[in-house]
Amino acid sequence: MSDQNLTGIGLIGLGRLGRVRAEIAARQLPNGRLAVVHDIDADLTATVAAEYGAIAVDSVKALVNHPDVDGVIVATPTALHVDPVLAVAAAAKPLFCEKPLASTLADTRQLVETIDAAGIACHIGFNRRHDPDHLQARQMIANGAIGTATYLRSNIRDPFPPPPWALDPNTGGGLFIDMLIHDIDAARMLMGQEIVSVYASTANLVVDPEGIEGFADNATVSFTFANGALGQFHASVHARYGYDVRAEVFGADGNIAIGRLNKRDLTLMTEAGGLTQPTTFQTRDGIPHAMFRFAEAYRDEIIAFADTITNGTTPTVNHHDALAAFRVAIACQQSATERRPIELTELQSM
Ligand SMILES: NC(=O)c1ccc[n+]([C@@H]2O[C@H](COP(=O)([O-])OP(=O)(O)OC[C@H]3O[C@@H](n4cnc5c(N)ncnc54)[C@H](O)[C@@H]3O)[C@@H](O)[C@H]2O)c1
Repeated sequence: MSDQNLTGIGLIGLGRLGRVRAEIAARQLPNGRLAVVHDIDADLTATVAAEYGAIAVDSVKALVNHPDVDGVIVATPTALHVDPVLAVAAAAKPLFCEKPLASTLADTRQLVETIDAAGIACHIGFNRRHDPDHLQARQMIANGAIGTATYLRSNIRDPFPPPPWALDPNTGGGLFIDMLIHDIDAARMLMGQEIVSVYASTANLVVDPEGIEGFADNATVSFTFANGALGQFHASVHARYGYDVRAEVFGADGNIAIGRLNKRDLTLMTEAGGLTQPTTFQTRDGIPHAMFRFAEAYRDEIIAFADTITNGTTPTVNHHDALAAFRVAIACQQSATERRPIELTELQSM
């Protein structure tokens, strides 16, 4: 089959993650190709189009309605997902939207209703759903390898802060909405349970975000699942030794640890002596980041999306999962602000 016969993917937003998506769609898909690209930055659109032999267009509308586009990836900043997602729904084409679906609960609900009404398939970019380690752990837990799971712990620690919009809780950023939402979704997946209450705390001790209101560089959450199992998260943006994502599920008959752990009892991790694997994306001073750790997952979720476009397969993780995770992230934010535990039922009316 020639390239032109493969499923055509349209890509909106060509920044940090959009460039990764462009590379995957153009060069790593057995079942799809990068067809059309658009970014609000016309020079960037032209550059990426030329690099990958894609068509450059100057508007979201032109992209979603382009005859070569069979499905659309939305990779604009989170607070700017609404318009492109509505346009994809209006064009009735399958959608892959980067996490989180939107930056507010009201927008998330509106998009979920619109996507349902349009009847389109919607994948959400919760990449851990396609990480081989997370998938194997979920299978083991479901098969009873550790008996009744009673506790989940996970951390997401970035080596350095993301773009300014992703630092600001008011623009879809911050530790809960932008980062811990990955852990929230992974916790739901691994345990097969919803989180029903959270108690979150934040601190700001290391990073100076230059006047972003409500910014925190560390957050912890203690939480409870619907069946009474317990959990804890930690997030940070100053893990100078490298991108650090690990999880542990503890049960009646054992324990499953996801992520790199040394055999020694004590491991010192610093920028000088920590993770040293070479990486190909988003390094600063050579520090590995997410695109190295989750390279297979980032690729496999787009392969799954192309399969949905071509064969109608069901998305692994969809807009309803996005809403469920967002509600927990908002509850964490409220808990940290009000310094009290929050039951998810309190969000019912929001
Ligand atoms: N799964 C992950 O690990 C992961 C990692 C990073 C980002 N993300 C998500 O991906 C999305 C994009 O994040 P990013 O870090 O790539 O952002 P970014 O700021 O690096 O890039 C966003 C791009 O969108 C473009 N843009 C802005 N407004 C636009 C508009 N109206 N129309 C078209 N293009 C527009 C910008 O010019 C920029 O090139 C966010 O939702 C973020 O949460 C996910």
